[in-house]
Amino acid sequence: MDALPLSAAIAHLKQHKDQHTWSLRELFTQNPDRANTFSTSAAGIYLDYSKNLLREDTLSLLLDYTDTAALKDAIQALFSGANINNTEHRPALHTALRFQGAPETEHEQAVADCRAQMQQFVERVHSGAWTGFTGKPIRHVVNIGIGGSDLGPRMVCEALRPWHNPDIQVHFVANIDGADLSDTLARLPAEETLFIVASKSFSTLETRQNALSARQWVLDAGCAESELEKHFVAVSSNIVAAQDFGIAAQNIFPMWDWVGGRYSLWSAIGLPIALACGFDAYSELLRGANAMDTHFAEAPFEQNLPVLMALIHFWYRQCWGAGSLAVLPYAQRLAKFPAWLQQLDMESLGKSVDREGQPLNYPSGSVIWGAEGSNGQHSFHQLLHQGTDMIPADFVAIKQPTSELTEQHRWLLSCCLSQSQALLQGKSLAEARKELEASGHTHKEVHHLAPHKVIPGNRPSNTLIVEKLDPYHLGSLLALYEHKVFTFGTLLDINPFDQWGVELGKVLGNAVYDAIEGEIPSNWDGSTANLLKLLLK
Ligand code: F6P
Repeated sequence: MDALPLSAAIAHLKQHKDQHTWSLRELFTQNPDRANTFSTSAAGIYLDYSKNLLREDTLSLLLDYTDTAALKDAIQALFSGANINNTEHRPALHTALRFQGAPETEHEQAVADCRAQMQQFVERVHSGAWTGFTGKPIRHVVNIGIGGSDLGPRMVCEALRPWHNPDIQVHFVANIDGADLSDTLARLPAEETLFIVASKSFSTLETRQNALSARQWVLDAGCAESELEKHFVAVSSNIVAAQDFGIAAQNIFPMWDWVGGRYSLWSAIGLPIALACGFDAYSELLRGANAMDTHFAEAPFEQNLPVLMALIHFWYRQCWGAGSLAVLPYAQRLAKFPAWLQQLDMESLGKSVDREGQPLNYPSGSVIWGAEGSNGQHSFHQLLHQGTDMIPADFVAIKQPTSELTEQHRWLLSCCLSQSQALLQGKSLAEARKELEASGHTHKEVHHLAPHKVIPGNRPSNTLIVEKLDPYHLGSLLALYEHKVFTFGTLLDINPFDQWGVELGKVLGNAVYDAIEGEIPSNWDGSTANLLKLLLK
């Protein structure tokens, strides 16, 4: 696709925006059935997108654009395993990781074999048949990985706490800061601790350093070199490097270059999930994701959750200048969801050239941020309500209570709904004045205070209702966002599956490390050279 159709479509959409006044309050008055018109559901998730600055003709224009962007073909290419990651000449087949039924392709067969290896391993650990160097069963599992080899399994494990096996505690270490590993290990008995070294490339600095330190810690606790294999398994596509590190061949779970790191929690990178929650729960997670895959592949675009969410985000990004998107899960156990989504979305969509390498003349990915509700309400929501920027928000509500404190769940849902309502309604100057007058303020006070109490409103949001925070629905929710990001990338004509920007920092990191030991190169910028001297003093 050349740049013209996209630029033309954006120009057309901008024209449409300029032709209308946009008031959410009015849109709801004009169409009392708006909530039904602008909502749809699939795989246990209900999407209400009626609180968006959208008219029916806006949606038609956006849907028309999916033809220009050849979205149907792109979805077909994704599922069929075409080399859609065109800078690394690979498919992006994370959907094959959650296939159901009997394997039909080579990829699915590889996945089935890996699942069997995982299941067997989980059973051995859970039954106590897998023991540490003193013969005691494993009670602690530490996942050492970073980025996609950390954020997904970490978030899912926290979300599914009620499914946890009480005999196994799963921990996560990612940071190169030794405090992460050291604080984690301080609480653990080495003889009962198993490490998963999770790294697709097996070359990531943080993971290698943490794994080396962990290895030494186990040896220092009295484990013989020959018994180390009882304490280390790996997940990697680089079998040779994992073996060179000292992981026994039978303890390596495969990864494949056709799965991107940020799309990998469905592979053996999800081993901590299976160990924490059991293999059945892990399988349910895959089943939920697969249900969303089927919906994405088959549903007409006007009812297609990932497509609709991507189109709406595209509308705000291209025509309303929205540079960020808030994601607000109203569930304590989804506290790590925004961090997972940040990598998925920002590593995928933070690009400046199109698929052919031509500079983009339109904005690409946005800043994704957020936190669990209701905590965020007492922190950054003020900016959502009264700041000068319009920041679209995704609210995620869980229908069934997540704890036995059902009364608190009712309050949680009230908080969630009232926030999107407040963003929509706002408070006009007249309303603010009336309110102050009613509470007995003097004329002078009303005059002074009323402007501060005005809340612009008309701020858009989606609300997702997830039936239950269980493995199936969580799988469906995560796959929904994966496909939304893919669709957004397709609409922008960029490759959402590479991440070359991360590489420069890695290369320079090595050079800075070398300079600590040796000389500071004369061609460095003055600031970096000076900072390093100060740090070394
Ligand atoms: O930070 C970039 C990145 O390449 C991510 O894309 C990836 O998830 C992460 O590093 C970890 O990579 P690996 O699994 O190869 O250690």
